[in-house]
Amino acid sequence: MEAITWLPLMFLILCSVRGELLPNIGAHLMNCTESDREALIDFKNGLHDPANRLSSWKGSNCCHWRGISCENTTGVVIAVDLRNPHPTYNYNDESLDRYGFWNLSGEIKPSLTKLKSLRHLDFSFNTFNDNPIPDFFGSFKNLQYLNLSHAGFSGAIPLNLGNLSSLQYLDVSCDDIWEESSLFVDNLKWLTDLSDNQFLPKVLDFLVNVSSLITLGMSNNWLDGRIPLDFSELPNLQFLYLGASGLSESCHQMLGGRWEKIQDLDFGRNDLHRKLPSSIGNLTFLSHLDLSGNSVDGGIPSSLGKLCNLISLDVSDNYINETLPVALEGIEICLSRKPFPILQSFDLSYNYLVGNLPEWLGHIENLVELDLSLNYLNGQIPAFFGSLQNLSRGPLPSLQYLDLSDNYLVGNLPEWLCQLEPERRL
Ligand SMILES: *[C@@H]1O[C@H](CO)[C@@H](O)[C@H](O)[C@H]1NC(C)=O
Ligand SMILES: *[C@@H]1O[C@H](CO)[C@@H](O)[C@H](O)[C@H]1NC(C)=O
Ligand SMILES: *[C@@H]1O[C@H](CO)[C@@H](O)[C@H](O)[C@H]1NC(C)=O
Ligand SMILES: *[C@@H]1O[C@H](CO)[C@@H](O)[C@H](O)[C@H]1NC(C)=O
Ligand SMILES: *[C@@H]1O[C@H](CO)[C@@H](O)[C@H](O)[C@H]1NC(C)=O
Ligand SMILES: *[C@@H]1O[C@H](CO)[C@@H](O)[C@H](O)[C@H]1NC(C)=O
Ligand SMILES: *[C@@H]1O[C@H](CO)[C@@H](O)[C@H](O)[C@H]1NC(C)=O
Ligand SMILES: *[C@@H]1O[C@H](CO)[C@@H](O)[C@H](O)[C@H]1NC(C)=O
Ligand SMILES: *[C@@H]1O[C@H](CO)[C@@H](O)[C@H](O)[C@H]1NC(C)=O
Repeated sequence: MEAITWLPLMFLILCSVRGELLPNIGAHLMNCTESDREALIDFKNGLHDPANRLSSWKGSNCCHWRGISCENTTGVVIAVDLRNPHPTYNYNDESLDRYGFWNLSGEIKPSLTKLKSLRHLDFSFNTFNDNPIPDFFGSFKNLQYLNLSHAGFSGAIPLNLGNLSSLQYLDVSCDDIWEESSLFVDNLKWLTDLSDNQFLPKVLDFLVNVSSLITLGMSNNWLDGRIPLDFSELPNLQFLYLGASGLSESCHQMLGGRWEKIQDLDFGRNDLHRKLPSSIGNLTFLSHLDLSGNSVDGGIPSSLGKLCNLISLDVSDNYINETLPVALEGIEICLSRKPFPILQSFDLSYNYLVGNLPEWLGHIENLVELDLSLNYLNGQIPAFFGSLQNLSRGPLPSLQYLDLSDNYLVGNLPEWLCQLEPERRL
């Protein structure tokens, strides 16, 4: 009996340490090529590894080494994963006590480029403080995944990365927390060294040629407003994170492009201005849109109703100063024929919205959080919030958080709202 109950637990433990402690399943029969092994040894000699994370990097078969994966038929190295599994956020962090310094630092030696078949390279959460991203990273012809987030690199991004014609995932984001603690990471201040204004607009253009890109993470890097608008033309781009990057563009410019497959767009905490274009309704795959903390004014276009896949929409802390649209366009194209059928979180707080609450707000079936606080909404809190259809659960059956505070709304909250379970906060 005891053995049986322990089994799943053991399995869990094994799964969670796999990759850090266990050799790669599937490649364990392969011996790595001698040239790849030598390249890795030389590369290791440049690294500073206080926690001895690379202690398994010895012996002849590098396919067994921690963080290394080999192609299963030829034994060539295809992945070098040196992601720090125990990042320390500051000196008080408890993981520091438990794991010590798991951060790697030192020099990234060019011997790495001898790994001709490399597809996956992850240096995230290490402390290569003040080193620039090496130029030679641009020579990995087969690289599909490059994660340099929170890795401490600084300086100008090498244009050579534009040569990575197979790249699908590029993550160089930083994090507010790290920035403030300023212990580990120096931001990628790609552009601050360049005083020649004429050159500035072109600095990231090279990425536009990497048509294989699926994910691009660059949040919290200072791009000084110089983002190529052509990002919207990248045919495979699905996830773009450019929060707090110093973007300064009109919404029309930034959101007007093709964005053929885009699902996540994070432009939060920038300076996007003027009104949202109605063409935003063309981004039909969009599921997460963050425009919070910008300077957007005008209204919410009714074409937004065509975004049937929207899960979260955050336009809080802007200058939206019109009424909410009375009706939404294109609801009939959503399968359920209801507004925003899978929207869970809708935040328009801290704007200058005026007018009444429109009826469609009461029909967003899967809404969990609705925040319209700190606006100039007026009129009655409409009866339809409570009187429509299904009084047993209320019209917004999933709602757990509703904030209408700091407006000029009058009237009583509908009865169903008052009967909400305690965890559904108002
Ligand atoms: C790997 O190397 C070991 C020791 O040199 C050898 O015994 C083994 O047969 C090799 N395996 C393969 C798959 O070549
Ligand atoms: C090698 O990997 C491929 C997929 O990456 C898989 O289809 C194939 O079955 C594997 N071969 C062996 C011998 O494990
Ligand atoms: C990069 O690595 C970090 C953690 O080390 C992870 O959170 C992030 O999702 C990774 N980025 C991509 C694009 O996979
Ligand atoms: C790599 O990119 C640089 C800068 O864009 C360029 O000068 C160089 O010719 C490229 N190299 C290859 C092999 O494409
Ligand atoms: C790891 O981070 C800590 C905290 O910033 C730093 O003191 C230490 O020097 C870093 N370790 C290495 C090897 O750079
Ligand atoms: C992008 O590719 C085109 C055509 O291959 C080339 O003419 C152009 O110089 C490239 N742009 C950059 C910024 O590398
Ligand atoms: C959607 O895009 C098409 C072209 O791709 C354009 O003609 C149309 O005006 C756009 N829709 C809106 C509402 O702007
Ligand atoms: C909204 O704000 C913009 C920019 O300040 C202004 O031009 C516009 O007239 C305002 N619209 C309304 C309806 O107040
Ligand atoms: C009321 O809610 C129940 C359960 O969520 C659902 O089965 C029923 O169809 C709803 N009735 C109406 C009129 O919407």
